[in-house]
Amino acid sequence: MFHYFRRKPVFIIAILALCILLLAVFIFRQSIFPQSANNGQATGTLSASAARTGRIFGAAVASSHLTGDQQYANTLDTEFSGVTPENEMKWETTEPERGSFNFAPADIIVSHAQSHNMKIRGHTLVWYSQLAPWVNDIATGSELLQVMKNHIANEMGHFKGKIWYWDVVNEAFNDDGSRRSTNNVFQQKIGDSYIEEAFKAARLADPNAKLCYNDYDTDGINEKSTAIYNMVKDFKARGVPIDCVGFQSHMIVDQVPPDYQENLQRFAALGIDVQVTELDIRMSTPVSDADLQSQADNYQRVVKACLAVSHCNDITVWGVTDKYSWIPQYFSGQGAALLFDDNYKKKAACNLVIQTLTSGS
Ligand code: XIL
Repeated sequence: MFHYFRRKPVFIIAILALCILLLAVFIFRQSIFPQSANNGQATGTLSASAARTGRIFGAAVASSHLTGDQQYANTLDTEFSGVTPENEMKWETTEPERGSFNFAPADIIVSHAQSHNMKIRGHTLVWYSQLAPWVNDIATGSELLQVMKNHIANEMGHFKGKIWYWDVVNEAFNDDGSRRSTNNVFQQKIGDSYIEEAFKAARLADPNAKLCYNDYDTDGINEKSTAIYNMVKDFKARGVPIDCVGFQSHMIVDQVPPDYQENLQRFAALGIDVQVTELDIRMSTPVSDADLQSQADNYQRVVKACLAVSHCNDITVWGVTDKYSWIPQYFSGQGAALLFDDNYKKKAACNLVIQTLTSGS
């Protein structure tokens, strides 16, 4: 044997070359497909698997947790490629007194996101809720319009060039498709035109930011989503700037609308982007393994719907971890709605989302 090789150096070189080639193929596969499924456990990250489909996977973030909880920051940085400030860009925080602006809490999130190459969704400029109380006392529609435009110009001006998509107007419709007027000073004093005025002011303030209308209970085809669809169609026809509709997707386990994908698709067909902006799927607590599996299936349906619509470019969950989710506080007896549990462990839903994104690429 030894003599044979000594007399045939060509064979040795060929075998060595073959070994090197096999090693190179192995290394290449590992770097291209580092997170293939392993015993049913996804081993990759949300951000990497979403990136291979050309999408962002984001989370709503609170500045207090970002600075106060290292595990929170680590999970965000490892798993997510986008952020939405959960409360820090809302009017009550950014303009608590007329003409006096405070962007400090939001700046913490924005600079963290920038230094980690994450996309930032601005949330939200015009909303009846979490509004500074003084705005409700403005006497006339014309004055309120000026106040609203000034707010948009200042807030978008401060973050100019840093925001990927802005939620310009949030939650302006009722379930029956009529305009939300109760507690909504903008609708009451300015009237229907406040939405288009807000979008026009937003385009002027940061022409490079994409502009979204954002709402909840619009995940299937219903009276509310159809009213928004008609508004977007009208805006497009009249040249009112709008680039996107955000579907909050605060949902209940086993109640994901069957026409979720069809709904996203009809909006995308209007020539806009669609984004899943505040996804969570809540359950009665405490939860069983079967609940966690149903939740995983529901999350998978949402991801598959987004993957099927080319203009669906972002899935953002409304929080990094169940530990700080808004759900238990707002929906009594409900919770466990997110992808990481109280101890930052990946839930079944998280693993299935990663697997679905991985096979979807
Ligand atoms: C929620 C936050 O998560 C809570 O911390 C806050 O107390 C209330 O608002 N729709 C929206 C979000 O557009 O801004 C809301 O966020 C959840 C519902």
